[in-house]
Amino acid sequence: MYNIVVFASGNGSTLQSIIDAIKSKDLEAHIPLVVSNNPKAFALKRAKKAKIPTYVIKEKDADKIDAELAGVLSKIDINLIVLAGYLKLIGPKLLDKYTIINTHPALLPKYGGKGMYGMNVHRAVIEAKEEYSGVTVHYVTAEYDRGLTLMQTRVKVMPNDTAEDLAARVQAAEKIQLVELLKSFAQEHNSKK
Ligand code: GAR
Repeated sequence: MYNIVVFASGNGSTLQSIIDAIKSKDLEAHIPLVVSNNPKAFALKRAKKAKIPTYVIKEKDADKIDAELAGVLSKIDINLIVLAGYLKLIGPKLLDKYTIINTHPALLPKYGGKGMYGMNVHRAVIEAKEEYSGVTVHYVTAEYDRGLTLMQTRVKVMPNDTAEDLAARVQAAEKIQLVELLKSFAQEHNSKK
């Protein structure tokens, strides 16, 4: 089985799209754990509803978080870590050991970096009067939104779009793109068995 650990800090609608794809057997994978740095994240409720174990990071120091998570994750069989709306940097212990990807709601390298997450991204895109926004899935490195791009989809910005309108369309495209990518990863892995 292809094991995907999901990290999420907020609403968790991206996590939900992975859960749904697994449930409908569109994606042949398993989520052994959902990790969050935010005890109030709705993502945790979604995980619990789907009977997926959760782990909440209480530590604030980056090195300690890295060591703590390395310990927790070492006990599980993991093929991939997906950052789905996770807002902390990933430390060297995890970067060395795991394949980690992030989904970002813009056409990187534009509108990435520290502070560029969620609605901040969509507001900035609207303000700059961009013709297109989109979604990027990329490998995770020690910097925000910097790793090699795996997949990108463009989403047209409509003339009267509010940031919320744009966010809704970008997030719809994001879920399709991410699940497609995870399907191709899982298929490749499962075909070797
Ligand atoms: C998603 O659009 C994700 O791309 C974005 O946060 C949203 C999380 O939504 N992530 C970033 O901006 C990371 N830089 P969700 O909590 O409903 O899944």
